[in-house]
Amino acid sequence: MLRGRPPLRLLDFALGVDGCAPGGQRDHDAADESAEGPGRRPTRAAGAPPVLDVDALRAGYGDVTVLRGVSFEVGPGEIVALVGANGAGKTTTLRTISGLLRPTGGAVRFVGERIDGLPTHEIVGRGLLQVPEGRKIFPSLSVQENLELGSYLPAAKARRAERLAQVLALFPILAERRRQPAGTLSGGEQQMLAIGRSLMGGPRLLMLDEPSLGLAPRVVDRIFEVIDRIRAQEIPVLLVEQNVHRSLALADRAYVLEQGAVTLSGRGAELAARDEVRRAYLGLSRDNDRITSSDATG
Ligand SMILES: Nc1ncnc2c1ncn2[C@@H]1O[C@H](COP(=O)(O)OP(=O)(O)OP(=O)(O)O)[C@@H](O)[C@H]1O
Ligand SMILES: [Mg+2]
Repeated sequence: MLRGRPPLRLLDFALGVDGCAPGGQRDHDAADESAEGPGRRPTRAAGAPPVLDVDALRAGYGDVTVLRGVSFEVGPGEIVALVGANGAGKTTTLRTISGLLRPTGGAVRFVGERIDGLPTHEIVGRGLLQVPEGRKIFPSLSVQENLELGSYLPAAKARRAERLAQVLALFPILAERRRQPAGTLSGGEQQMLAIGRSLMGGPRLLMLDEPSLGLAPRVVDRIFEVIDRIRAQEIPVLLVEQNVHRSLALADRAYVLEQGAVTLSGRGAELAARDEVRRAYLGLSRDNDRITSSDATG
């Protein structure tokens, strides 16, 4: 059992920070620039306000601008997929929303409040949690200790036992292996552990970066099933995937990101039927499936 609040570095590691300081504080009022750029306002079912509202977000690395005005929103209980080719800026988008990268323009609102420019731990504290690409579990800690790391903030800690029971019920394989070092898990089990750790924090929205990458087809099925069950628990999901075929089939709505801007958006099934999406991404997705199934670790 881990006691006390782990140093922020642990959290940063879990979030996939590579020697990169969390986004610095900045003046919120000053950051309230008008929305512009190529991002498109999509249609979402009218009604409740969005949980996550990304508005003309700009960010990059050093002098290189990667996000050139990305706009999209995630509504209550929705799975929204963000799809696009390698290097389109999907991971950069998630890292900027999480505060790991400092935005250079635009706005991010989470349950109605500006969060762009806030440090990562505050964003996490508000319930916006990211499962990073590559899982970032702690191999020498046990499965249970890894899960407990997801609930180190006081509010989550108070509900640790209850959430642990829920996560272990969602992933029975983790219950079987809870005392085992996490490094001994298969790739698919490690992905489940990474998702479970985020659920321990009691997310109000979960962002997943390439959860199916490198996994065998049957394990991919399981991961997509779990994402569906997370939606059933009323936790909205922002899903980043190169497996365009599967993510469009699962998502309520989706956005296509190309070179740092949203170029298409719509309901998942509608996008999957569009010629330009089929040509550009669905062929690619099948190819990915073939490659990943022979390279599977799950
Ligand atoms: N730490 C970094 N320093 C400099 N450039 C970076 C860094 N990380 C990403 N980039 C560049 O930013 C662009 C977008 O990268 P990003 O990782 O966001 O793409 P992605 O859509 O997630 O791609 P993939 O599907 O391969 O994961 C790429 O051109 C990439 O080379
Ligand atoms: Mg990526």
